[in-house]
Amino acid sequence: MNKPISLSRYLLEKQRESKNESVPQGQIPPKLRLLLEIVARACKRISHAVNKGALGDVLGGAETENVQGEMQKKLDIIANEVLIEANEWGGHLAAMASEEMDSIYVVPNRYPQGEYLLLFDPLDGSSNIDINVSIGTIFSVLKKPEGSNAVTEQDFLQAGAKQVAAGYCIYGPQTTLVLTVGAGVVMFTLDREQGSFVLTDSDVRIPEDTKEFAINMSNMRHWAPPVRRYIDECLAGKDGPRGKDFNMRWIAAMVADVHRILTRGGIFMYPWDKREPEKAGKLRLMYEANPMSWLVEQAGGAATNGKQRIMDIQPTKLHERVSVILGSKNEVERVTQYHNS
Ligand code: F6P
Repeated sequence: MNKPISLSRYLLEKQRESKNESVPQGQIPPKLRLLLEIVARACKRISHAVNKGALGDVLGGAETENVQGEMQKKLDIIANEVLIEANEWGGHLAAMASEEMDSIYVVPNRYPQGEYLLLFDPLDGSSNIDINVSIGTIFSVLKKPEGSNAVTEQDFLQAGAKQVAAGYCIYGPQTTLVLTVGAGVVMFTLDREQGSFVLTDSDVRIPEDTKEFAINMSNMRHWAPPVRRYIDECLAGKDGPRGKDFNMRWIAAMVADVHRILTRGGIFMYPWDKREPEKAGKLRLMYEANPMSWLVEQAGGAATNGKQRIMDIQPTKLHERVSVILGSKNEVERVTQYHNS
């Protein structure tokens, strides 16, 4: 068996291979390597807290609401603090933004300022925490625009296509960190005995076709006609226009549903619906949809909001929401075509 490659060694090798810094994607300059190492270390700490569960007094609600008006869990707050504390002093970041914070967190003056911006959903799938089902941390890295001095929220409002790194760490039966810098998708599994993430898949690919869909079916009556049509056709199975039976999965944590799709294909949808017609969708563009879309595209899949590529959307606010359709390419193109025809 080949010698296992740790995340640290992988990043160092990629940093050495990085030559052309004028093309940021696919590159790992030293400060980005440091940033990714630190995010991975923070994820390890979150993984330990998640694993302790009731023994660590980390379960249950925190009796507070986040900016989205959702009740926070103790672990949401713990994960947010771990990520901030780990990242604020290293000199690689200018500021951070999180699902759990109303506005951006600028690196305090007492620490050196860096050129990167980090966005995260510290604990995605919070409703799964107390029931011992997979949850995860999603992150996206942008570069601070050139010429900008004091960092502002405006600096964060960049399309997903500008990301320089994105990934997630899923806390499930295994803890797995999944990463892209624009040169494919790699997966690392946490070896708890060694305390390090070990490379376990160096070329993640999503099959173009699938027979598996993920959507919250309880919202069916609220969907727009194109989504309804697509799911109706899947449900009709062998006897319908698709001529094949479909299977359904819904873990209710985007991180876990996307992990399944990266592992064996499928389509995931959280579309716009009539419950809150003024909102574009439920999921957040900048720290949920963008990083997941980039991972999916880098693995050969596709991601749209029904009308356009998610990564091309110009954000207008930090906590912007978006309709999400992502996964196996041919299925995503089919649903998108239903919206555009
Ligand atoms: O962040 C929101 C989220 O928890 C996603 O991870 C997940 O896909 C979705 O909400 C679950 O929504 P619902 O509660 O409608 O099943």
